[in-house]
Amino acid sequence: MRLSDVKLVSVARARHVSAPPRLRAPLAARNFNAIMSARFPTLLCLALVFGTGHTRSSSAPLLDNGLARTPPMGWNSWNHFHCNVSAQLIRETADAMVSGGLRDAGYQYVVIDDCWQVARDRAGRLVADSARFPGGIKPLADYVHSKGLKFGIYTDAGRLTCQGRPGTYGSEEIDARTFAEWGVDYVKEDWCNSEGLDAPTQYAKFRDALAKAGRPIVFSICEWGSNQPWEWGPRTGNLWRTTGDIGDRWASMIAILDLSSQHGHAASPGAWNDPDMLEVGNGGMTDDEYRAHFSLWAVMAAPLMAGNDVRTMTAVTHDMLTTKEVIAVDQDSLGAQGMLVQEPAPDLQVWSKPLADGSRAVVLLNRSGLQTVITASWRALGLRGSARVRDLWTHSDVGVMTDRFNATVPAHGVVMVRITPVTGGGRNSSTSAPPSRQTPSRLPAPRR
Ligand code: GLA
Repeated sequence: MRLSDVKLVSVARARHVSAPPRLRAPLAARNFNAIMSARFPTLLCLALVFGTGHTRSSSAPLLDNGLARTPPMGWNSWNHFHCNVSAQLIRETADAMVSGGLRDAGYQYVVIDDCWQVARDRAGRLVADSARFPGGIKPLADYVHSKGLKFGIYTDAGRLTCQGRPGTYGSEEIDARTFAEWGVDYVKEDWCNSEGLDAPTQYAKFRDALAKAGRPIVFSICEWGSNQPWEWGPRTGNLWRTTGDIGDRWASMIAILDLSSQHGHAASPGAWNDPDMLEVGNGGMTDDEYRAHFSLWAVMAAPLMAGNDVRTMTAVTHDMLTTKEVIAVDQDSLGAQGMLVQEPAPDLQVWSKPLADGSRAVVLLNRSGLQTVITASWRALGLRGSARVRDLWTHSDVGVMTDRFNATVPAHGVVMVRITPVTGGGRNSSTSAPPSRQTPSRLPAPRR
């Protein structure tokens, strides 16, 4: 299956059936790479001719709820626990996030996904499963808040959730009010069982209901990229899923990277493309692959929602999820989504994200099955002269380089560095584009 087919299948399924699409197809990278290697020099020249002072490509107003000025960070139950959620799990997860240092590393929102709800009461209010959530949701939200964390919940814009629980369709105002009363800080709204409904209209309804409820609540749109949410998402929510569900496999993660990276122009502080929650630590990828997953999500300015069991994670997973210098790239205040800037050979890529201080976060990505050397050129990164290179995973300074940087990159792995121009150093002194967001003109052509 070609990549474009993955997307078309996603759209077709989302429009006509009630379940979200799964990203199953392996990426047809070879076709794309062949096109890219032929096209890249031209694209690069175009990129260098155009300026870099661009903000967002769309002039549509943003949802101005003051939230998620950097990509939201937290934990969500779905990827690891699916329907097996309970108050006890949420409390233990919150405890582990504090004791394990995740909260202090920036993970804030503890989100219960699908399956917490069983019915509506006579007044039309959602009712939680009393066996799994004795006492309901409010005491649980209070507990999470008492730990210095924020509390998130899940609903669905359709008639039923993806797991057949009551959906919010027709109950937007009462659900928003209920969530606000419970102390909810983050709502993810799914798109199952929404046949015949218009996504921008339904999500705007819930946005307005949340605003009316009067509590600051991050609004996470989850319609799997099936109705071009990058066009209306920024004025409707704080983040919007760009694809079907992630699977705990390299091919799934890479396919999502290729799809989500096509919409970088739509991201800005308060409004983020969401390539789905993290799989780091769930066991389906190697450590190198998880390191690549985490690095690429950071360079894409993606929400970082851990999706593993944080109560029992290994030291390697813990260290990966709390790697300060990589998280700092994700959370950089410029709020630019990084992009593919160079493809020196098929399966070898250079991704770059401009940062507020004028430096670049750079990921050398080896999609092949063999360890190899990848070179990033200053030209592709929009840099000149000398620049300091720091390895963000080993936390070490690599040195001052001129014109290019190269490193040996493991199979299905990355090297991630921060490249900072050296100022005031004579003939070779570095100049770089001022801290600014990249223009869409720099984007390599979307993969079709
Ligand atoms: C959809 C969403 C997932 C998850 C499940 C829950 O598949 O895309 O992220 O919320 O529903 O049923």
